[in-house]
Amino acid sequence: MSFRSVFIAVTVAFGLILGAFLVNRARPQVETEQPTADFVLASGKCAECHARLQYSVVHEYEMSAHAKRGVNCLDCHQAGQGQQKKEHHGFVIATHLTAGNCRGCHEGIYQEFLRSRHAAPSWAAIYGEKGLTSDQVAFSEQYQPGGTKRPPHPFVAAEGASAMASGCEQCHSIGKPNDDGTIGTCTDCHARHTSSVALARLPTTCAQCHMGPDHSQIEIYDESKHGVMFAAQEKLLKLDANPRTLSTRDMFVPTCATCHMSGINGLKVTHDPSERLSWYLADAVSSKRPNYLRAQANMKQVCEQCHTAALIDRVYTQAEQVVASTNTKVLAAKDIVDGLHKDGLLSGPPFSQPIDFTYFDLWHYDGRTSKHAAFMGGADFVQWHGNYGLLEKTVELRHQADELRRSHEAHK
Ligand code: HEC
Ligand code: HEC
Ligand code: HEC
Ligand code: HEC
Ligand code: HEC
Ligand code: HEC
Ligand code: HEC
Ligand code: HEC
Repeated sequence: MSFRSVFIAVTVAFGLILGAFLVNRARPQVETEQPTADFVLASGKCAECHARLQYSVVHEYEMSAHAKRGVNCLDCHQAGQGQQKKEHHGFVIATHLTAGNCRGCHEGIYQEFLRSRHAAPSWAAIYGEKGLTSDQVAFSEQYQPGGTKRPPHPFVAAEGASAMASGCEQCHSIGKPNDDGTIGTCTDCHARHTSSVALARLPTTCAQCHMGPDHSQIEIYDESKHGVMFAAQEKLLKLDANPRTLSTRDMFVPTCATCHMSGINGLKVTHDPSERLSWYLADAVSSKRPNYLRAQANMKQVCEQCHTAALIDRVYTQAEQVVASTNTKVLAAKDIVDGLHKDGLLSGPPFSQPIDFTYFDLWHYDGRTSKHAAFMGGADFVQWHGNYGLLEKTVELRHQADELRRSHEAHK
């Protein structure tokens, strides 16, 4: 081979390399960035493509326990039983995922979740039995009597479908019946791709729904000593500790999850928060739950990991006195409203008279809040957002009832 042809070959080769380099440099940076080798191995094609399209989705997944354990995109995104299939760039995926896409690997947890009020009763709180099969209702009623066998909430008719879809359902669809026959979603607490226990243990996660004047759990927690300590010491806690070995060395300040779900220091972890609740505090007039004694023992056992019995018994004794006193106050208001109904002075549909709202706010805002706060350390909510409101609305309710009777007499 002559010197001339070697020279041409080298020049052309160099030109090609330089050209490729320049072309590559001109491409947007996101196109040249590849996921790490381990990560492509674990998740293959989907990640390669989607890292360019939605970096956030892939990055959240990359940080998850699933990625570390080799659970890949398709493990969740393949169509499960009863799910609609869709051709997708050489794969078949499901278009909509549910708890059904998690249960294959977490069946025990799904079963616990199914027994809880986060499942069917959450949905039935809005729509009653509508959308649930008779088997689903029968199953849930075994564990949550009266939770699903009930009529739709009067607000469904009074406020209309769009208010339900963008309001109530956003929180209550945690227990929505899915087309594939399963119930609910796991991702409200774990997110779709993070799949993290650390996220689920944060108070703000529960506070997506547990907030506002009718269930002020986050506001109560934030003002409690527990909430204050959490704000001060969050960075010292091991929020991502393994649930099976979680101890007070990892979590020495409790969050919502610690008291209602975690298995701290070897206690039983649960996806059914009812297991530790002894009263129906959300009801207008609270009664004891069927599992009152067992539930109270379960919760007190959690407190005992950090406190002495004297302190715990004091909290429970005082809180149960608030429950009794709130019941008396709500029953007195209820008597007045029942009297009006009996005498034919309130004959319209629900929520058509000002007094309907006074009574509803009295128990649904003030009554509930006083009871919740007494158990969870929120003095301001027992008093100013609780008992004070109960007193004020009782006076207002009496006044409205008197007016109704007077105007009725005048029109006779
Ligand atoms: C060649 C690139 C490519 C590959 C490979 C790919 N996707 Fe996609 N994916 C897309 C594009 C583009 C869209 C948005 C348009 C669409 O819906 O097709 C999308 C949309 C999606 C959606 C939303 C669909 C919807 O209807 O809401 C999901 C979920 C999804 N992909 C998951 C996956 C999974 C899981 C894999 C691997 C099994 C995968 N993708 C492989 C390019 C890709
Ligand atoms: C732990 C299960 C799980 C894994 C693993 C998983 N996903 Fe998802 N993904 C979900 C769920 C649940 C949704 C919500 C689907 C729905 O709206 O019904 C979702 C939604 C998506 C969407 C639509 C996002 C949006 O906001 O529009 C894309 C795209 C997607 N996943 C891609 C991927 C890719 C790529 C991977 C792997 C790198 C992956 N997923 C791994 C559970 C998972
Ligand atoms: C293919 C099986 C598989 C599927 C499908 C699956 N997981 Fe997992 N999941 C696992 C494995 C394996 C682990 C790791 C268990 C361990 O480390 O002990 C895990 C761990 C977890 C953890 C604990 C993470 C941590 O930080 O310790 C959560 C939470 C979780 N999964 C939620 C989900 C949710 C929600 C879905 C559905 C959207 C889902 N998983 C779907 C197999 C799966
Ligand atoms: C911000 C989230 C959120 C919205 C919006 C919301 N709820 Fe709730 N709801 C909750 C939470 C959380 C509880 C649990 C309260 C408790 O146990 O203390 C609850 C409790 C209930 C209860 C009492 C529990 C039961 O099963 O009887 C009913 C009834 C109810 N909601 C109906 C509705 C209706 C109807 C709407 C819309 C008009 C609605 N909720 C809007 C979060 C929400
Ligand atoms: C109300 C919020 C909530 C919902 C809904 C929820 N989880 Fe969890 N989950 C948690 C919390 C909190 C923990 C951590 C408990 C602890 O502190 O140890 C957890 C822990 C887990 C773990 C780790 C358990 C272990 O022993 O390693 C898995 C897996 C898991 N959840 C899967 C699911 C699945 C599957 C669903 C749906 C059927 C689901 N979760 C629904 C809050 C939730
Ligand atoms: C997506 C909304 C949502 C999230 C997130 C959520 N919850 Fe709930 N929760 C509800 C609804 C709705 C109810 C009321 C169910 C009913 O009784 O109708 C409820 C009820 C409860 C109850 C009362 C159960 C009973 O037996 O009366 C407890 C306790 C509870 N949730 C704890 C938690 C904890 C702890 C977290 C965070 C780890 C959490 N929730 C996250 C919506 C949510
Ligand atoms: C220190 C432990 C502790 C913490 C932290 C805690 N709770 Fe509670 N919670 C309780 C106790 C105790 C009760 C009353 C139990 C009973 O009925 O016997 C209760 C009651 C409730 C109820 C009322 C259920 C009903 O019957 O209406 C809900 C809902 C709830 N908590 C949610 C939360 C949420 C959300 C957080 C975090 C923002 C939280 N809790 C933080 C101990 C705790
Ligand atoms: C994971 C540990 C932990 C758990 C579980 C726990 N607490 Fe606490 N609690 C604390 C810490 C830490 C403080 C702040 C102690 C201090 O002032 O040094 C505290 C403070 C309190 C206080 C305020 C004491 C005062 O006089 O300032 C009360 C009351 C209380 N807890 C009640 C309870 C009850 C009731 C339960 C169970 C329903 C419970 N706690 C569960 C850690 C915990």
